[in-house]
Amino acid sequence: TDREKKYRPAYHHTPLYGWMNDPNGMFYKDGVWHLYYQYNPYGSKWQNMTWGHSSSSDLIHWNHEPIAIRPDGLGSIFSGSCAIDKEGTAGFGKDAVIAMFTSAGTSQMQSLAHSSDNGESFIVYPGNPVITLESEARDPNMFWNPETKEWNLVLAHALDHEMLFFTSPNLKNWTLQSAFGKGIGAQDGVWECPDLFQLPVEGSDEKKWVLLCNLNPGGIFGGSATQYFVGDFDGKKFTADTDASGNVVTKWMDFGKDHYATVSWSDAPDNRRTVMGWMSNWQYAADVPTKQFRSANTLPRDMKLFTQPDGQIYLASVPSPEVDALRGKLSASVSGKTVGKKGFDVSLPAANDGVCEISMTLDGKNSNDATITLSNKAGDQVVMMYDPKAHTFSFDRTKSGVVDFSENFPAVTVAPTFEQNGKVALRIFIDKSSIEVFGNDGKFAMTNLVFPNEPYSRLSISSPNGKVKVSDLKIYSIK
Ligand code: FRU
Repeated sequence: TDREKKYRPAYHHTPLYGWMNDPNGMFYKDGVWHLYYQYNPYGSKWQNMTWGHSSSSDLIHWNHEPIAIRPDGLGSIFSGSCAIDKEGTAGFGKDAVIAMFTSAGTSQMQSLAHSSDNGESFIVYPGNPVITLESEARDPNMFWNPETKEWNLVLAHALDHEMLFFTSPNLKNWTLQSAFGKGIGAQDGVWECPDLFQLPVEGSDEKKWVLLCNLNPGGIFGGSATQYFVGDFDGKKFTADTDASGNVVTKWMDFGKDHYATVSWSDAPDNRRTVMGWMSNWQYAADVPTKQFRSANTLPRDMKLFTQPDGQIYLASVPSPEVDALRGKLSASVSGKTVGKKGFDVSLPAANDGVCEISMTLDGKNSNDATITLSNKAGDQVVMMYDPKAHTFSFDRTKSGVVDFSENFPAVTVAPTFEQNGKVALRIFIDKSSIEVFGNDGKFAMTNLVFPNEPYSRLSISSPNGKVKVSDLKIYSIK
């Protein structure tokens, strides 16, 4: 239908039809990025979970592949991870691709499968399940730890708001080592979809561990969202960094409403830690105004750690370098301009229904807030505001187009800008039904769905209460 065409993303991963939630089991092998996802091939609401599969050689163009894992006698196939068993520890051969997922039947159990055709199809392990617990636990995320020479696994102990840490020599026999989370960070709802990885801290020789913890509800703007903890991991136990008063600071990976179940690719090249999130929110994912397909994933993002003046270490989400290849014709360019109340307008590219990338730097030093408005002739508008005094960037989608399908959809989301000099360099990616904003090389990221009645066609920038300097404004159409 026209509506399907109108909102189907031009450059974000999405299934051809049917329902999708969490990205699952991503791994990289032989030049191919594999992406699995929670998939219902029979309808556009959550049910009959399988692992759908897509593959890509550039993280942008995705091939639709046959369903990789289907429900079996233990239940439907919930979220999980993949890893390459380089040593053949599990007995499925050297370099076997191993999947670990939750079998969701009468209870939630953890199961194994392996692939001998590079992830096209999987054979479930006849000895499943490999982990059973009394209470709800799911979304196993495992990786080979080269330092301890054993497998590590993080499992979400959903209702207990904690992550469980296991070790194994062979992916089949697991020993529970520790738990992390009780009373720490955002505690509402359930804890789901963990990930754990080590990253260098920018500007130092230090390395730190990052524990991703998706939770629903209880997200920063209601419903689902991704929090994370930075700390240390000794192969058995995770300890989170604290602030000067000994408290663990609650940290969010994205400051929009539509970023969930984010996990990373295993075995990515060049020590990259690349992630993708589900671009929706459990509050209204089944009600969004599309029917043939429901939901897309975020742009791929590479992870970095940076330190703030108070010593706290935060996670940056940088659009993966592959995304740059999407840049098409430069449709507008403004090198420098100081704007006041009146501001200025530029047209957005009309080609390809207005999908585009906008970049600019706002210098808010000694000045006032800046307002960036996207609008169209139907009267829809998205209003973004950078407030250099409060060090915040906000996004108002209350009048962005079709918003009435859920009372939880119209919203204003706000990010800390993490800058010290008043300058914010922005990259704004507009697709047919989503807007992603990245500030200062990913120090903050903000992902929000929008359903405009027609594509946004104008960009206006002004400073309603003073003046602000805009430089290096560039608008690229998307190839
Ligand atoms: C998160 C989640 C996971 C679960 C999956 C089921 O969105 O609830 O915890 O494995 O979805 O589809």
